[in-house]
Amino acid sequence: MSCFSCMTPKPFTDYDEDMTPKSIESSEGGKRGNSVRGKGKESNSQKGNVARSFSLKELALATKNFREANLIGEGGFGSVYKGCLESGQIVAVKQLNLDGLQGNQEFIVEVLMLSLLHHPNLVNLIGYCTDGDQRLLVYEFMPMGSLENHLFDLEPDQRPLSWKTRLKIAVGAARGLEYLHCKANPPVIYRDLKSSNILLDNDYNVKLSDFGLAKLGPVGDNTHVSTRVMGTYGYCAPEYAMSGKLTLKSDIYSFGVVLLELITGRKAIDFTRKPGEQNLVVWSRPFLKDRKNFVQMVDPLLEGRFSVKSLQHAVVITSMCLQEQATIRPLISDVATALEYLASQADDSRKCR
Ligand SMILES: Nc1ncnc2c1ncn2[C@@H]1O[C@H](COP(=O)(O)OP(=O)(O)OP(=O)(O)O)[C@@H](O)[C@H]1O
Ligand SMILES: [Mg+2]
Repeated sequence: MSCFSCMTPKPFTDYDEDMTPKSIESSEGGKRGNSVRGKGKESNSQKGNVARSFSLKELALATKNFREANLIGEGGFGSVYKGCLESGQIVAVKQLNLDGLQGNQEFIVEVLMLSLLHHPNLVNLIGYCTDGDQRLLVYEFMPMGSLENHLFDLEPDQRPLSWKTRLKIAVGAARGLEYLHCKANPPVIYRDLKSSNILLDNDYNVKLSDFGLAKLGPVGDNTHVSTRVMGTYGYCAPEYAMSGKLTLKSDIYSFGVVLLELITGRKAIDFTRKPGEQNLVVWSRPFLKDRKNFVQMVDPLLEGRFSVKSLQHAVVITSMCLQEQATIRPLISDVATALEYLASQADDSRKCR
């Protein structure tokens, strides 16, 4: 199985949210023509997504010359700036660190993946810029930032997420992953599911971001894809970390870690905690063994505002996702359905019972 970018000479199939295939003539990471599909356009709707090419000048104008005040985040790829396009559309502009091939490879995969995959729970790519050696990505702006901004290190004036909202976020992330695993053909292994890649709108609707590491899943009789181990420490499935054996079930494990973060309010990896508590999965194992202990794991910021029944179900789903043996982890569609049921039953007004 080759990586996504190695397959560019073959025609791709573009998928709508309802999975109606649409043919794509050619994709070269945005280097040819004015857009990845068809002619460049000013607007970019969720359906019939067209990632357009921007000049560096346009993006400099949009971000007021990438000024500090517009900086909204920084990650491994580079810096993210809030910007306003000439059309008035608010966007997030991600500027790639110009430090080598790996970043460029991820840039190409990101543009290709997001040009082909469309779903309400995946972030919308508006365009990209390949002026000279500059590489920038332009996304729809997500006003609430990422899940990690709402779970960890809260500002004094920030309200913690309620139990119901945590479940809603889990459902949104599961539905995004379900689209990648079950509806895209061939399936897509996301490889980088983590709370900083779960973006939120004002109603806590989820959009998954960062597809630079995504891989097309195994096809035919193959059971897995072999790859160099990448992704983020703390979220990686054990079999993937040890042998590079990548399957859809590696994403399920990462999803389990995100569920654990939502339940506990603790980070997957936190070096500020004492030894034994720094790795969230390792810390949680003794609690996961006995349902009488589940309540002790819960984020203290919830102040008991959750139903114990709902918590118990959520922890059982989490444990299943975190099974050491990949094959017995559940399918994301079953996880999504179970979480959706829990979210529909959740009631914020109740104290722990
Ligand atoms: N489309 C967007 N809208 C609003 N904020 C965004 C958007 N994309 C990214 N951000 C913000 O920028 C931050 C950095 O994002 P980025 O993807 O560059 O790094 P990361 O996910 O934190 O880490 P990594 O590079 O390891 O994936 C995010 O945590 C989020 O707060
Ligand atoms: Mg990210």
